[in-house]
Amino acid sequence: MTSPNEAPCLKVENLDISIGDAVAVARGINLEIRRGETVALVGESGSGKTVTALSLIDLLPPPLRVTRGSVSICGQEITHATPDVLNRIRGNRVGMIFQQPASMLDPSCRVGRQVGEALRLHRRASRGEAFERAVELLREVGIPEAGRRARSFAHQLSGGMAQRVMIAAALSSDPDLLIADEPTTALDVTVQAQILGLLEKEKKQRTLSILLITHDLSIVSAVADRVVVMYAGGIVEEGPVATIMRAPQHPYTKALIDCSLMRKAGSGDLESIPGTIPPPTRSIPGCRFHPRCPHALARSKGSVCASDEPVATRTADGHLVHCWAAEP
Ligand SMILES: Nc1ncnc2c1ncn2[C@@H]1O[C@H](COP(=O)(O)OP(=O)(O)OP(=O)(O)O)[C@@H](O)[C@H]1O
Ligand code: SF4
Ligand SMILES: [Mg+2]
Repeated sequence: MTSPNEAPCLKVENLDISIGDAVAVARGINLEIRRGETVALVGESGSGKTVTALSLIDLLPPPLRVTRGSVSICGQEITHATPDVLNRIRGNRVGMIFQQPASMLDPSCRVGRQVGEALRLHRRASRGEAFERAVELLREVGIPEAGRRARSFAHQLSGGMAQRVMIAAALSSDPDLLIADEPTTALDVTVQAQILGLLEKEKKQRTLSILLITHDLSIVSAVADRVVVMYAGGIVEEGPVATIMRAPQHPYTKALIDCSLMRKAGSGDLESIPGTIPPPTRSIPGCRFHPRCPHALARSKGSVCASDEPVATRTADGHLVHCWAAEP
């Protein structure tokens, strides 16, 4: 990792994302990733992980849009950047990996050509040079007979192989930041472990910063340095992976970890948190988790939880926790 004086690879400040101008799907997001650091962004389905990731490189589909705050990548502000600057940052600084590699790859184009595409577009490589580099990258990500595989089409690859191709494509421009949105969710456990191992190897070799989005806490300890927990569009807790997993402070983080442990132990019924995540259109005063929070429910009527949004507390073990019950 780098010196504390170096600009973080990613810095997000007070970011709000809304549907049009009205409904907020993410609010007050603050996020920082240092060079060579892996940050896991976790939370249930619908908590706002993907919209946050897409906003980082200005890829939100309308009517979603950033309505407040700023994002900078390697010190370059992108929130109000021109299309040219954005293109340059996307092409040179950031790589993205998605959950369904097969659906992201063009079925009519040989995978070697797709992996080399960014080099053609952003580095002005010739077709031959781009293909040669694509074969090297496919070899690097562990694809056997890379030269032959580079001439395959996406439908001729297994899920794990297709994900390796996506990783090769994401690495082709030698990015500083890799955004991986549920990169292993569609894969079986063995292939999942191989892909996580590959990301770890690439991170070390290239001093990559990684934003790893997942709802599966069981993979977080193995790969992340820090964890950021999102609930209903807001960050509720963040901190170093070891203490978050061992001593979570926010009731939602505790519930997520408990569910993950129960799932691992094969317990049938109790593997999701009781209640559901509220849709962005539902206005909830106070703490957005309060309708599901066992601590809030145990409190007396008129609890602050149901009326006032929690302020952030920095705890003794370095977590930032948005909960009225958190102790400094
Ligand atoms: N294109 C869109 N238009 C309107 N609302 C959207 C759009 N995409 C996402 N949303 C809403 O934004 C909220 C956050 O969605 P998001 O996809 O970021 O969740 P997530 O945490 O990535 O969930 P998952 O784990 O299922 O991928 C959800 O309420 C979702 O319905
Ligand atoms: S602020 Fe209150 S309702 Fe929200 S998580 Fe903390 S104890 Fe629960
Ligand atoms: Mg998502």
